[in-house]
Amino acid sequence: PLRGVIFDMDGVLTDTIEFHYQTWQRLADEEGIPFSRQANEALRGLSRRDSLLRILQGRVLPEATIQELLERKNRYFRSFIETMTADYLLPGVQVFLKDLREAGIKTAVASASQNVYIVIEKLGIASDIDVITNVYDVDRPKPAPDVFLYAAQQLGLGPEDCVVFEDAESGVEAARAAQMRVIGLGDAAQVGAADWVLPGLEGVRWHHIQAKLNPGV
Ligand code: BG6
Ligand code: MG
Repeated sequence: PLRGVIFDMDGVLTDTIEFHYQTWQRLADEEGIPFSRQANEALRGLSRRDSLLRILQGRVLPEATIQELLERKNRYFRSFIETMTADYLLPGVQVFLKDLREAGIKTAVASASQNVYIVIEKLGIASDIDVITNVYDVDRPKPAPDVFLYAAQQLGLGPEDCVVFEDAESGVEAARAAQMRVIGLGDAAQVGAADWVLPGLEGVRWHHIQAKLNPGV
């Protein structure tokens, strides 16, 4: 039976997509590089560096310049994070976390974000999550399975015990590569390869997930 839930953070627990969009847009404008809200959608789930490389579209820059751009982007993003509160939790998250606690299900967050700890803290849900980890704890970023396997290990569970919640194609791919069940949240064009696609966590209860993924248990 399923015993653990591993959440992606951005786009699953909180809507930081807009913050990321605005900070990348500001950077792109400052550098005279074309960027758009639509281009930002394709960056969901990618690490900061991979996002920048996509935005640069093959422009070759010295490593020192790349580092400066990454740091500047994060400085802008941090000033948004400073303003974050529990109001930035996506609908249904608080209720679902409480439901998981009551059902005795272990919980982890496995994010591509270096800011995962501070964001979880700002959202006020640190005490509801058993394990917090990001791709910098492992060798390879999503779509490699590493961060999900590491999160499961930290929970003391096997891949078969866990279900992942993801909003990005690279994350769904990573969960499948880890041989975990995966619920895709949002746009089926992004998460269509998941075992089940839902619009979001609003109204979702653990018994729904169990009935869908473990019928008969
Ligand atoms: C992912 C987001 O979770 O984290 C991406 O979906 C973001 O949009 C990435 O670029 C890296 O985040 P950070 O906080 O390390 O810049
Ligand atoms: Mg995400």
